[in-house]
Amino acid sequence: MLRSQITGVGSYVPSRVVTNFDLEKMVDTSDEWITKRTGIKERHWAALGEAPSDMALQAANRALESAKLSKSQLDMIVYATLSPDHEFPGTGCFLQAKLDVPGIPALDIRQQCTGFLYALSIADQYIRNGMYRNILVIGTEMHSRGLDKTNRGRDVAVLFGDGAGAVVVRACEVVKPESDSYLFSTHLHADGRFAKELWVPAPGSALPDEERLSHAMLNENLHYAQMNGKRVFVSAVEKLMQVMGECMSANQVSTEKVDLFLLHQANLRINEAVAEHVKIPPEKVFNTIHKFGNTTAATIPLGMDEAIKAGVLKKGMLVMLAAFGSGFTWGSALLRF
Ligand code: ACO
Repeated sequence: MLRSQITGVGSYVPSRVVTNFDLEKMVDTSDEWITKRTGIKERHWAALGEAPSDMALQAANRALESAKLSKSQLDMIVYATLSPDHEFPGTGCFLQAKLDVPGIPALDIRQQCTGFLYALSIADQYIRNGMYRNILVIGTEMHSRGLDKTNRGRDVAVLFGDGAGAVVVRACEVVKPESDSYLFSTHLHADGRFAKELWVPAPGSALPDEERLSHAMLNENLHYAQMNGKRVFVSAVEKLMQVMGECMSANQVSTEKVDLFLLHQANLRINEAVAEHVKIPPEKVFNTIHKFGNTTAATIPLGMDEAIKAGVLKKGMLVMLAAFGSGFTWGSALLRF
């Protein structure tokens, strides 16, 4: 049985730490408001001149090193982000050039907070059908350049941070399904009826304007995220529970059998509500939101790397991944690490 195995994990966050107290100096907010509603205490913001693909390169090199794989052995890059280096081409191409692996395909995934799971699922399909053996799957986000750091944008600005997380996915022959390390299944969903509950309208060719980006759009703040926070919160809890249930029943496992849950990091309260409803003991959910905020496509691989470093994620563990985000999109995956 040909399956995917995660053989390397790496991550990177920029060195600049921005605390809630730092944000208090920028907008009308407070450490108390942010902590109580989101669990976030600090996040990292990139330095001027640092590009998303620079962060991705650091995470990718660390993942390759941890996989003990030469970059020349990579067959493909799948790159998830909502904050690309440029409008086009995809940032996977910029990363590929920086990694110096010309020729291999580089695919960008635009599924926001669920981006890493979509990317992982795509890599898994290429591996299962035998087309590729070694794929770099990466989630990178540089939110700091796209936040409205005035009072008008304070509801969104306090939530997000910058970071990158990468995994190396390798083809493996599963001989003992009950003990081998491999990716069991992935489950993906989207409901575009809710696309405008969390979105960035501009630049956009669907807008009634001569240009995809105009001064009028900038004046209206259409280049910043517009979010219906309450709607996102409620749907996130509901869809995460559904898709985790779907994954457990597809693999005939119960929550007790899962050793660790690596859930998307949007809001600590979302994950606490999910854990309570699904009856997961809090110590089985590994959260990083207090130190990184929401790094969108990077939260899961970044969390995986942090969990390894903390000694929480160990070889042989049964791990569930789940995410929800703009689109709306949501998904889950189960693997033995
Ligand atoms: N600091 C202080 N006050 C603020 C801030 C801020 N940063 N932002 C908003 N407020 C004010 C509002 O203006 C409002 O004031 P009012 O009562 O005078 O009108 C008050 O705080 C309460 O605002 P609400 O929107 O009702 O606050 P809520 O309890 O819903 O919390 C939050 C807002 C934290 C955004 C919450 O809705 C949430 O987390 N939603 C999920 C959003 C999310 O996770 N998005 C991430 C992307 S998607 C994903 O990754 C799943």
